[in-house]
Amino acid sequence: MKKLNSLAIGLAVVTFAAGWYLGGSNDALTITSSAGGKSYAGGYVDEQATETASNRAVKLRTTEGKTHVVNPGDLIQAAVELAQPGDTIQVMPGTYSETVYIDKDDIHLLGVIVEGERATLDGLKTLNDAILYSGNNIIIENFKIIDYKGNGIMSQAGNNFEIRNNLIIDTGIYGIFPQLGKNGLIEHNVVSGIADAAIYVGMSDNIHVAYNEVFDSVAGIEIENSRHAIVEHNHTHHNTGGILAFITPGLPVKDTYDVIIRNNFIMDNNTPNFGAPGSTVAGIPAGTGILIMAADDVVVEGNIISNHKTAGILITDHGNADNLTLDPESDPNADGAMILDNVMLNNGYDTIDAVRAFALTELHTGDIDIFQIGPTEGSCIINRHRYKTVGIGDFTDCDFTNTNDIENYLLAGGAEPRVIHPSERGEIAYLGVCTGCHAYAGRLIGPSVQEIQALYANRPEALVQYINAPTPMRTDYPEMPAQNYLDAETQLAVANYILQVGN
Ligand code: HEC
Repeated sequence: MKKLNSLAIGLAVVTFAAGWYLGGSNDALTITSSAGGKSYAGGYVDEQATETASNRAVKLRTTEGKTHVVNPGDLIQAAVELAQPGDTIQVMPGTYSETVYIDKDDIHLLGVIVEGERATLDGLKTLNDAILYSGNNIIIENFKIIDYKGNGIMSQAGNNFEIRNNLIIDTGIYGIFPQLGKNGLIEHNVVSGIADAAIYVGMSDNIHVAYNEVFDSVAGIEIENSRHAIVEHNHTHHNTGGILAFITPGLPVKDTYDVIIRNNFIMDNNTPNFGAPGSTVAGIPAGTGILIMAADDVVVEGNIISNHKTAGILITDHGNADNLTLDPESDPNADGAMILDNVMLNNGYDTIDAVRAFALTELHTGDIDIFQIGPTEGSCIINRHRYKTVGIGDFTDCDFTNTNDIENYLLAGGAEPRVIHPSERGEIAYLGVCTGCHAYAGRLIGPSVQEIQALYANRPEALVQYINAPTPMRTDYPEMPAQNYLDAETQLAVANYILQVGN
């Protein structure tokens, strides 16, 4: 150990001396005003758009269907069974203990708030999920959701959705979790007490996450294996990590790129990590404001990032991250990070050993606002002198100062509704449900798909039996929630699918 340290410091002195010698005339600051100036020209161009960007993800209805009113004592699910696409379900204030599963298109599920009292879904700490849906054009609004064990609101493969103004408290692994969706809006929700991610956007495109407050969770807001996402005007505090953009290796979607994280309050995310051992988020060091891991083209602009003991912004490749099994099809490097003006205060004041050791190689001691490790190409920053930085020697000066030209990445005309053919059932259920917890290789929340394939080779019926009524198998894993809301045909299809799927 001692030897290693002196070697690192020896190297650092050489690097420092070389920098001194080569960089002699480099001491004039480049000061850039972020008021006005050129806007970011990258990002997403909606080629089909005939209108300008929309602030909605679900098109306004031209004809309203029926309205179904649910009162305390009724089942919400009974109204869902009756509803036809185009209908609205209004749930009156009161407590409902059930799992609502919507597998049709164009349903608006609205909690009615009367004098501050909400329609409350209470999982009683025994039910797994509050609301699951797999349709297109779904709106879920105004609920209070408490005490579930799995997910608050989870969607599988539904395009065009709006999840708005819900209070989600202590609902297990994921608070709001759209998976495999295109064109979605998640706004004005308050989510807390979640053991993995409060808001988790997985394998999705064209997503807008705004005006949410997330706290007391492991990951605040997570953009994972997703493209064209904007995270803005959120308040994330007292999580382990505030806002994350990264690639989880071993999932069917292999990349994360084009993410704008702007104008958020990100503060005091120092909560000790209570993620499931072995899960990706269990590797987040407590005290991380923003984490960019292997994601490309991520803009960080206009945030207030304060009081994080590890670092304000941590940028890493997969190679330097814990808890991961690499995927040869995912590029492990974080390229094209773009740091514009942010207010950064009091970060990196009690960082982890690995960060401290690397900082020492640059002779950096003390606080760290921005920390970058691993190979990176095409990354840039403006006004670098404002921050305490480590590892950004390769960053050029950005040739733009703001993202003002980009309002959102929502699709003006909406995305084509996703049609699921019977032959795709197994695949969609696998992508939309199982991959939330199972990666192909390596541990996620549950064991790897490879391990499952070895255990259940040629025994799809036995696998169906397990997912219907899982019994605890491993002492070092959480329990798997029952998948008995999937119909028998889908269960068999997903069992067959998971047993033959490759990477
Ligand atoms: C919310 C997380 C989660 C989801 C979603 C999930 N699983 Fe699991 N799964 C787990 C966990 C955790 C375990 C380990 C449980 C244990 O060992 O007690 C597990 C274990 C398993 C096992 C191993 C059983 C054994 O005999 O050891 C199989 C098979 C399995 N899951 C299949 C599936 C399928 C198929 C799906 C999708 C329909 C799925 N799981 C969805 C979390 C999940």
